[in-house]
Amino acid sequence: MPSNPVYPIVWRDDRVLLIDQTRLPHNYTVVEIKCCEDMARAIRTMIVRGAPAIGVAAAYGMYLGARDIKTADRETFVTELEEVAKLLRQTRPTAVNLFWAIARMLKTAHETIGSVDQLKTALLVTAQGIQVEDLEICKAIGDNGLAAMPATPEKLCILTYCNAGSLATAGYGTALGVVRSTWREKRLARIYACETRPRLQGAKLTAWECVQEGIPVTLITDNMAAHCMHQGLIDAVMVGADRIAANGDTANKIGTYSVALLAKAHNIPFFVAAPLSTVDFDLPTGDLIPIEERHPSEIYQIGETVTCPTGVEFYNPGFDVTPAELISAIITEKGAMRPEELQQFRVKQLA
Ligand code: MRU
Repeated sequence: MPSNPVYPIVWRDDRVLLIDQTRLPHNYTVVEIKCCEDMARAIRTMIVRGAPAIGVAAAYGMYLGARDIKTADRETFVTELEEVAKLLRQTRPTAVNLFWAIARMLKTAHETIGSVDQLKTALLVTAQGIQVEDLEICKAIGDNGLAAMPATPEKLCILTYCNAGSLATAGYGTALGVVRSTWREKRLARIYACETRPRLQGAKLTAWECVQEGIPVTLITDNMAAHCMHQGLIDAVMVGADRIAANGDTANKIGTYSVALLAKAHNIPFFVAAPLSTVDFDLPTGDLIPIEERHPSEIYQIGETVTCPTGVEFYNPGFDVTPAELISAIITEKGAMRPEELQQFRVKQLA
């Protein structure tokens, strides 16, 4: 049975427990992860997914890898830990939280004074710290997003895309965290959840989370968003982010860019909710964000059924980039801000 609220990643009895997100909504299954290779596989196959959750999972993957290194020599230990980092970095390219969390774990390894055993303990503390921090950050994002909501109507209809909920974070969610805070304060009428082709994170995960908590949710196919906006059904759009460039251009699940264009055309505010760790200040613009390309079977197959003739070619990018000028505000743990205001947080993120 899922806990309420949902926590997708749990550290228990020296192992990581992950909700298998590939099996929701019909099967609630928990997978045990006991080594870094299993964690790399879980990230790659999307048992765990969503930018902040991938970061937390990678941090635990680093610890599991570290725990299994059999040397008492510090230098050898750090060299072998770099190999674990390499394995985990190869899992998914777009969500910067993965690389951020791995860098933070390596920093711990480099800076902790003491024996290899002390280093291992410090790495576990860091991974747990990243997880606890993410939950707190999501709650702050939720409250900052609530404050940024349009004053009217009193009860809002919010359109969401993909899943940026508890399942995509340590808990509570970013975009769905704002939805949760809005619901708690009785400012939410309902969400319209886009199903999010091709993997259907909106239908399978966002709708599932809402049903768990009794948040009213109407599921639409992605190509219904314009019509719903035109009919006046949508008061705001709220999405998450996988990587935000220094100028505010935002990579998120493929299809987000179209929703942003539609929101602009209908004069509806378009919000991005994300922790500051999702901002990659090393990339000046969104054109430089690496976009994951995924297997064509996600396009040509629904369940066991192949939906197109043989001889067709495919293109399956997992993410797109919404230009900063289409974003009304980016909602972070430090408040809601215009994309250009992110610059004030351009500090060395690991400092
Ligand atoms: O491919 P996924 O399911 O990992 O993509 C997830 C998204 O695009 C989310 O919107 C994003 O990671 C934000 S999660 C808080």
